[in-house]
Amino acid sequence: MAIFSGKFGKNLTAIGLVVVLFLGTLVGVGWFKFLREVPTFYASPEQHFNYGSIGAEARDGMPYWMWLVLPRLFPEYLPGPGGYASLGISWEPGEELPIGFSKKVIGFPRQGITCAVCHTATYRNSPEENPTFVYTGPSSRFNLQGYINFLRSSARDPRFNADYILNSSNGISYVAGLSWLDKQLYRFLIIPITKTILLNFDESFSWMDVRPDQGPGRIAPFNPVKFRILGLPIDDTIGNSDMMPLWNEQQHEGFALHWDGLETSLTETALEGALGDGATQKSLDVEGIARVEDYIRKVPPPAYPYAIDTQLAETGSLIFENSCASCHAFGGERTGTVIPVEEIGTDRHRLDMWTQEAVDAYKAYSEGYDWEFTEIRKTNGYVSVALDGLWLRSPYLHNGSVPSLVDLFESPENRPTEFYRGYDVYDPVKMGFISTGPEAEKAGFRYDTSLPANSNQGHVYGTDLSTQDKTALIEYLKML
Ligand code: HEC
Ligand code: HEC
Repeated sequence: MAIFSGKFGKNLTAIGLVVVLFLGTLVGVGWFKFLREVPTFYASPEQHFNYGSIGAEARDGMPYWMWLVLPRLFPEYLPGPGGYASLGISWEPGEELPIGFSKKVIGFPRQGITCAVCHTATYRNSPEENPTFVYTGPSSRFNLQGYINFLRSSARDPRFNADYILNSSNGISYVAGLSWLDKQLYRFLIIPITKTILLNFDESFSWMDVRPDQGPGRIAPFNPVKFRILGLPIDDTIGNSDMMPLWNEQQHEGFALHWDGLETSLTETALEGALGDGATQKSLDVEGIARVEDYIRKVPPPAYPYAIDTQLAETGSLIFENSCASCHAFGGERTGTVIPVEEIGTDRHRLDMWTQEAVDAYKAYSEGYDWEFTEIRKTNGYVSVALDGLWLRSPYLHNGSVPSLVDLFESPENRPTEFYRGYDVYDPVKMGFISTGPEAEKAGFRYDTSLPANSNQGHVYGTDLSTQDKTALIEYLKML
């Protein structure tokens, strides 16, 4: 003990103090630069839906400045010119972030996605027009698979390194005005760590490469959850399905949720949405998501923006009453319930993708949290969804396999077997987005109904009506 006393001991104490101070500063700076969370708050529920964090920055969020410059550094991995816009990502005039993207400081600014990236529809009356945004509508243009593949390919490129990302003519140094310290952090930590994370991300999505492409407006909603979050073995299921609208959820109270009705609780569905988008058990912003839930309950479905022949629609309402209301009218006996797949006859891949094993694993994953999932389940069919805002839900059916309502009421063998998705100019005659012709081909993704999970068969209701009755029925459907 003698060595700790006297002058030597005093010196040691002084050195100790300096070391503690130094380490303390390091920990403090480290915390400030990497962990400090600055909450974002949007007072408007609509802005919150579009841009507010749902906690998704934690797992799959990119450092914001890297995310911003990436399309200019690796444009060859995007499907076309125009940066992120080529993936169906849209900016509202005057906004820093595109719709469906959040920015949050966790040490440094990070980017995440929000519900709105998939749940905001756009439409145009003519190719020259700017799009009209319909928040909570199903996006027909966002190409999630293209976005994921862009990040994967960029990370694999040898130029994905600190020199190129910081100092090339489109690099971060030129857009962000970083301090000397921040540049060092990007060079030695943030860029190399992001590269490692993205290469893991690349590996964890390789199952997508051997299945039919999803294309814009469709995703494989639960396979990433099964393989990446729940750790289930990679299987051969294909879950490609169309985006759904979130408007008017209040009136859907008691309906089964998701195309196959795998949920019955809106709260759980919303939280599961956020986990699927990159939130973790810890980062899940339960309060922020409750605000989203409150918002989507009340948003009214969008009114049909073109003329309606009300007299014809009245005739159509009687046909609807006879042929459709039991499954689709509010108050219908079977509306919002799961109709067995054998009865409805549509493609069964999406249904088979969600398994009892996945249900059990998701329940176990949420156990012990105050947001525990108890309603999630396995079903045997597809939900007879409410048809509110139907005009803007094209292409139709759970896999988006039928481009327009006119096509849906054709007998299955006469429905188009090839068309283009992802072009948002509306055709009020067929009731759906324009899906053929040079413009649709240029902007769109070729949908081939012969590929697995893309079948356009089944749902034969209304196909045997006379042409006149079909026209009247469609006129009525414009009013929903
Ligand atoms: C990456 C795209 C994407 C994001 C982001 C996303 N969703 Fe979805 N959502 C979908 C798709 C696709 C479906 C239908 C999937 C299926 O059942 O096959 C869906 C279905 C739903 C449904 C069921 C609707 C109904 O009427 O049955 C709800 C509710 C929902 N999402 C809420 C949310 C919320 C809340 C968020 C944000 C926390 C969110 N979603 C984020 C793509 C997305
Ligand atoms: C026995 C119940 C049942 C009857 C009757 C029925 N449907 Fe459906 N409908 C469903 C189910 C289930 C789905 C979802 C099927 C799928 O996506 O695989 C559906 C889907 C739809 C869709 C696609 C919705 C979307 O967002 O893509 C439309 C449109 C539709 N039905 C219209 C009608 C019309 C019009 C009638 C009457 C002529 C009718 N249905 C009769 C059960 C029914």
